[in-house]
Amino acid sequence: MKNSEIAVRRDDAISRGVGMTTQVYAARAENSEIWDVEGRRYIDFAGGIAVLNTGHRHPKVIDAVKKQLDAFTHTCHQVVPYENYVALAERLNGIVPGDFRKKTIFATTGAEAVENAVKIARAATGRSAIIAFTGAFHGRTFMGMALTGKVVPYKVGFGQMMGDVFHVPFPIELHGIDVETSLDVLDKLFKADVDPKRVAAIIVEPVQGEGGFYEVPRALMKALRQICDDHGILLIADEVQTGFARTGKLFAMQHHDVAADLTCMAKSLAGGFPLSAVTGRAELMDAPGPGGLGGTYAGNPLAIAASLAVLDVIDEEGLCDRASQLGGRLKQRLESLRSDIAQIIDIRGPGFMVAVEFGIPGSVKPSAEFANAVRLRALNKGLILLTCGVYGNVVRFLAPITIQDAVFNEALDIIEASIRECATEAKA
Ligand SMILES: Cc1ncc(COP(=O)(O)O)c(C=O)c1O
Repeated sequence: MKNSEIAVRRDDAISRGVGMTTQVYAARAENSEIWDVEGRRYIDFAGGIAVLNTGHRHPKVIDAVKKQLDAFTHTCHQVVPYENYVALAERLNGIVPGDFRKKTIFATTGAEAVENAVKIARAATGRSAIIAFTGAFHGRTFMGMALTGKVVPYKVGFGQMMGDVFHVPFPIELHGIDVETSLDVLDKLFKADVDPKRVAAIIVEPVQGEGGFYEVPRALMKALRQICDDHGILLIADEVQTGFARTGKLFAMQHHDVAADLTCMAKSLAGGFPLSAVTGRAELMDAPGPGGLGGTYAGNPLAIAASLAVLDVIDEEGLCDRASQLGGRLKQRLESLRSDIAQIIDIRGPGFMVAVEFGIPGSVKPSAEFANAVRLRALNKGLILLTCGVYGNVVRFLAPITIQDAVFNEALDIIEASIRECATEAKA
């Protein structure tokens, strides 16, 4: 079967609302490589959008899931519970940042984790308003969409957003917004639009994911913690994209020495199986009444088994350190191009959550065209990359942290060649 034949059927059968970045139909995958239905091999630097920190089909994850598959696949934890669900909750309560007693709930997607964190915050505080940041991405459900700080394509055509959601500019010095400005807008928001005593939570990604891999400046994170404490507001960390060793630490909040009251997790939590979680202060987590949280598939046994194995693998294979090493090598290679490639305006990111931002030469004006050209060029050479950023001008790298050195080096060469070729073409 050919990719192009499936693509025609796909266009006929599936809503265009489910956007696509490649027409590479997967046949099989192993660690950091994917083979398509035509037998062509690709290096995967997308990781199913930050899901595969432990790689495709890690043997330990597959073993754990196979064992669970042979025992049972679904009972619904609210009906007939299972021990693994409890074991994983205990484990997350122990590792999520915060020196306080914690409890956990499971859901299926990142958006659901965010929805549940907001429900818990509202139930615990008796308040309704939520503050988020411009450029944030928190999911495609109604509250997730409202919290998301990017209109195109996430909010277009979907009518009125959920109320009582406010956005503060995310500080990006490169584009002229510093921490002071963000805090000043937050202060004005409290004066002009919403009494801080009505705010249930501030939600923040420690490193914006879809928004462009911008790290929250330490000063802002510290200030947010203080503002929350001053006004009885809860701090929610959305670690859906940043979690599980990607940034060189298990959680990105550990870079800030700040603990959130509630932490949202998903993606690499379960190495390719659908699972999300909210972990937080025990007394807050107990605010909703019995039956107020949960879901038919929430905490699916196969995904829970996978997640327990993922946490073992991260530990046993030292993936936090490995992420820092790989990220350092990637940044070094990108830095070596800076003097030749005028379109590179920034290289950044903690650990292996690395991105390169492209602009119009001689300015910091975004060039989505260049970023997309690099992505397509790399795809042609057998490397799957993703773009991101409010202006779509950032190429982000989300390779498995378990990638073998030889494959990683091959990918670095493709990245360099793709950027160089695109720059040469842009000059012509
Ligand atoms: C920070 C963040 N929060 C929430 C989500 C939503 O997760 P999901 O697509 O699993 O609903 C994403 C997805 O990219 C994300 O990056």
